[in-house]
Amino acid sequence: MHSYLLFLCVAGFFIEYGFTRLTPDFIHPCPVDDRACLIQSTKDAIPYFTKGIPELGVPSMDPFYIERLSIPLSGLKISFFNGKVTGFRKAVIDNVESNFAKRKFVLEFHSNVTLKGGYDATGRILTFPINGEGDAKIKITNLKMKVMMNLDMMSDDKGVKHLFVKNYKYNFGYGDKVQYNLTNLVKGSPELSRTLLQFLNENWKLVSEEFGKPVVDYATELALRTIEKFFLAVPYEELIEGPVPSFK
Ligand SMILES: *[C@@H]1O[C@H](CO)[C@@H](O)[C@H](O)[C@H]1NC(C)=O
Ligand SMILES: *[C@@H]1O[C@H](CO)[C@@H](O)[C@H](O)[C@H]1NC(C)=O
Repeated sequence: MHSYLLFLCVAGFFIEYGFTRLTPDFIHPCPVDDRACLIQSTKDAIPYFTKGIPELGVPSMDPFYIERLSIPLSGLKISFFNGKVTGFRKAVIDNVESNFAKRKFVLEFHSNVTLKGGYDATGRILTFPINGEGDAKIKITNLKMKVMMNLDMMSDDKGVKHLFVKNYKYNFGYGDKVQYNLTNLVKGSPELSRTLLQFLNENWKLVSEEFGKPVVDYATELALRTIEKFFLAVPYEELIEGPVPSFK
């Protein structure tokens, strides 16, 4: 009887004081600023993290869904809807670096990415008139990204400290190839649509430069918000192994 009570007390203590780890098992904490560990740990986490962590309110990033994304460009108005983006779970991590004292964090990866969904477009692409509506499939081979984040710390209403993304910037490259498959680019003219599509693919670099950035901006913003949800769900101390340096 006595030991049962003791057990209850101990269990109560652990629950009360939050010793239960909130972070899922696939997140392997690293000693602060340990680059090799951060790279390995990120590699380990990516396939699981990108699926989403519903119990922590972290949405899926592979696939991730674009309900509607309108891109107003000079001379072209294009919208994607019911879009589904896949590929990030197989991202190859090239580098992860942190400088905890300066609150800086860098992530570099490359990945094949596919966007599928509906689209409509009116205007011009590289001087060609377009008035289309149909299915879009855009495949990027080896999209390269480098994201630089400034992190900071905040306390939640229970006084538990969390990291948050203060701001970020990123560089990216379209990698080896972008393949476009958009049906019905010129309404009612399959022939012209085919010719135009072929032209887009022959000039994929120019085309991507013209309307790729808003799509990547959107995806990056969404990914960063997802990381932020994760940070808000878990105390930052669970992400670091060993002594945690003061972070003001
Ligand atoms: C992307 O696809 C290409 C061609 O299928 C393949 O060679 C490459 O390894 C893939 N890259 C990644 C990051 O999976
Ligand atoms: C493009 O997509 C259409 C249907 O969405 C499909 O029938 C066609 O085979 C695709 N073309 C290529 C080159 O993938």
